[in-house]
This record gives sequence, structure tokens and C-alpha cells, in this order.
Amino acid sequence: MIVIETPRLILRHLTLEDTEALASIYADPIVMKFFRSVRSPEVTKQKIEKIIESYEQDGFGLWATIYKPDNQFIGRCGLIPQIVNQCSELEIAYLLAKEYWGRGLATEAAIAIKNYGFEEIGCNRLISLINHDNIASQKVALKTGLTYEKDIQMEGENLRVYAIARN
Ligand SMILES: CC(C)(COP(=O)(O)OP(=O)(O)OC[C@H]1O[C@@H](n2cnc3c(N)ncnc32)[C@H](O)[C@@H]1OP(=O)(O)O)[C@@H](O)C(=O)NCCC(=O)NCCS
Repeated sequence: MIVIETPRLILRHLTLEDTEALASIYADPIVMKFFRSVRSPEVTKQKIEKIIESYEQDGFGLWATIYKPDNQFIGRCGLIPQIVNQCSELEIAYLLAKEYWGRGLATEAAIAIKNYGFEEIGCNRLISLINHDNIASQKVALKTGLTYEKDIQMEGENLRVYAIARN
């Protein structure tokens, strides 16, 4: 099911058939530098199963991200519920295969996800939680219109909170 379409991207529901494609991205230590570890195909499958549950429970989640010019699966982007300092938040999340970095694709996805969050889901605020050293991700957040709000500690990690409110 297609959720969002942009000039260069399709964001659609993930299915278990995406396991191999996503697992090969999750196996790349450069892509996963700011995550706890690379992820095995088995863990990737479990993650996709949880994401499929989230479509049913929340109506949204992380979506398969397809690059239209070559019809390739290039990552997953979307919305993740988070609890930050005991408050419920909705996070704009993005992760792409490194061959596709540096073309403005994460920003294109993030802007479309922001608009979807405000206009389709009706949320009043969106955030991104980003490792201090993840400069590319912070730039994407800024280009999407989010601004730096505060630093937090979450599960032993120092994270920067970027946020945007619906005007
Ligand atoms: C973060 C990520 C999604 C960005 O994807 P992308 O499609 O390359 O992003 P964009 O091209 O839209 O924008 C990236 C910006 O960061 C800049 N950038 C990239 N690496 C950088 C670095 N090491 N230092 C400074 N700037 C950097 C780019 O030049 C670009 O800025 P510009 O438009 O001003 O030139 C991608 O790097 C990724 O998948 N990383 C691994 C997963 C991850 O960390 N996700 C975020 C978790 S919070």
C-alpha cells in the first residue's frame, strides 16, 4: 500500500518480502554507525513484523522507501512513537542505503512525512532524536524545518531533540 509519493520517492507499507533488501542495508556498519549494532536478517524480519503490527495499531510506522527512477528499495523512513521525558512524541525517522546518500533524498522523504504527520494524522508536534555526532541527520532535520530544542539522555545515549510544531 502506497502511503506517500514525492517527485523521486514512494513510501509504502513494508512487507516480509522486503526482509532481504532491508537486511542488506541493516548489515552495513557505515549505515548503522549511530545505531547499537548492525542487524541480522532474523532481527530485520522481527523488526518488520513489529512495524506491520504498528500499521494495524497506530495506522502508521516506518515505510519502505523506493527510489522511483530505478525502482530500488533504498531504505525505510516514517514515523515512530517515542516517550521522551514521560511525554508521548512522534518521531520523523529516516535511514537510507549509503549509495543513495547526498542527493537530498532523506530531506525529500522527511518533508513529505512531516506534511503527512500534520495534515493526515493531525498531530501538533513532530520531533527527531539524533545522536550528537550524526551531522547528516541533524542537517536533514534543519532542512525539514525542525529546530534544535534540547539534549536528552535516552537508554544511555546522548541525543539531541529537534522539533517542529504545527503552525
Ligand atoms: C541521515 C541520512 C538519512 C541522510 O540521508 P541523505 O539522503 O544523504 O540526506 P540529504 O542529502 O537530504 O541531506 C544530508 C545533508 O547532510 C550533509 N552531510 C552529509 N554528511 C555530512 C557530514 N559528515 N558532515 C557534514 N554534513 C554532512 C549533506 O551535505 C547534506 O547537506 P546539504 O544539503 O546542506 O549539502 C543518511 O546519512 C543515513 O541513512 N544515515 C544512516 C542512518 C541514520 O543515521 N539515520 C538517522 C538516524 S537519527
